[in-house]
Amino acid sequence: MGDSVKIYSSQDFPVYLPKLNLLYDDLFSGGKGFRSYLTGLVGKNIALESKGIELLQQTIEFIHNASLLHDDLVDRSQLRRGKPAAWHKYTPEYAVLAGDYLLARVMVNLSAYGNIDLVHYTAQMISDLLEGEWLQDSVVGDYFINLEQLDRIHILKTSSLFKWCLRAPFIAQKQNDKQLHHLLEEMGKILGQLFQRSDDLLDFNIRNHEGKAVLGDLKSGYLNSFGAYLTQGMSRAEIQAFVQSPDLPAIQRAMGGEEKFQEKLNGFDQINSAMIQLYHHYLSEVSKLISQPELIRELAKLTDVLYWRKKPS
Ligand code: FPP
Ligand code: MG
Repeated sequence: MGDSVKIYSSQDFPVYLPKLNLLYDDLFSGGKGFRSYLTGLVGKNIALESKGIELLQQTIEFIHNASLLHDDLVDRSQLRRGKPAAWHKYTPEYAVLAGDYLLARVMVNLSAYGNIDLVHYTAQMISDLLEGEWLQDSVVGDYFINLEQLDRIHILKTSSLFKWCLRAPFIAQKQNDKQLHHLLEEMGKILGQLFQRSDDLLDFNIRNHEGKAVLGDLKSGYLNSFGAYLTQGMSRAEIQAFVQSPDLPAIQRAMGGEEKFQEKLNGFDQINSAMIQLYHHYLSEVSKLISQPELIRELAKLTDVLYWRKKPS
């Protein structure tokens, strides 16, 4: 998805903190950089100056990676991007402090840019991200949660960053057209949900081209969005049997067989296709407000990549 972006240089972190530098070198290598790609895509197409684009790309990657440093500790995940998670490789204390430091750098760099709306919007995004994480923590072990309740969490935890990638470059350029920002907000909300739902399908080995481990969410007590969709309409006893499934064949049996499971998958894909259509509707409205056809073309490709996991063209 475009060229990879150098998110920081050796001058960004103090040389007298070698362990911190080592931890960041580990952390930032191997990420897909989708959020900085998206921010750069918008920034470049609306001709935001390069200093601003770089600042925004760094901001979103620092916040995202800070959240992963803390998230792996919260989840006690041993691996991140196929490598030992920072809390596990170094110490939990290092992971917390390294995440906090990234957030501190964001505040220093962003406030120096001198656009108070951008600082405010970024702080709001971080606040949403944390509310989502708190809410998610409160539903671990709740196997009777429904899709709407999960959507609320995913919009706070995942969509907040996607919305920011679309809107922040316009805010940096002081383009504050209300209708444009409303449309971008709705589009970011959808992109985040599609990203999350596609990731949730991987847990059931659907379109799992990268071979990610399966049933990890369920085994750690978390009924994800596809799990919530599959269990819709089941009795409590049936849900209890479903969540205790040790493997995928057992999941299919709990659904009444492979064919029934496939029907459910088609149903889930259908509701997400409706969301994809809505995204494209909003995008065509955006195309009436801004005259950047190349940006519109690139944004149109994202739903295939994020939900259907097609290779980017
Ligand atoms: C990954 O989710 C985690 C997040 C999207 C957000 C985590 C947020 C926090 C820990 C709050 C702290 C935030 C900051 C800015 C320091 P996941 O666990 O579902 O996905 P995974 O499988 O990639 O771990
Ligand atoms: Mg996690």
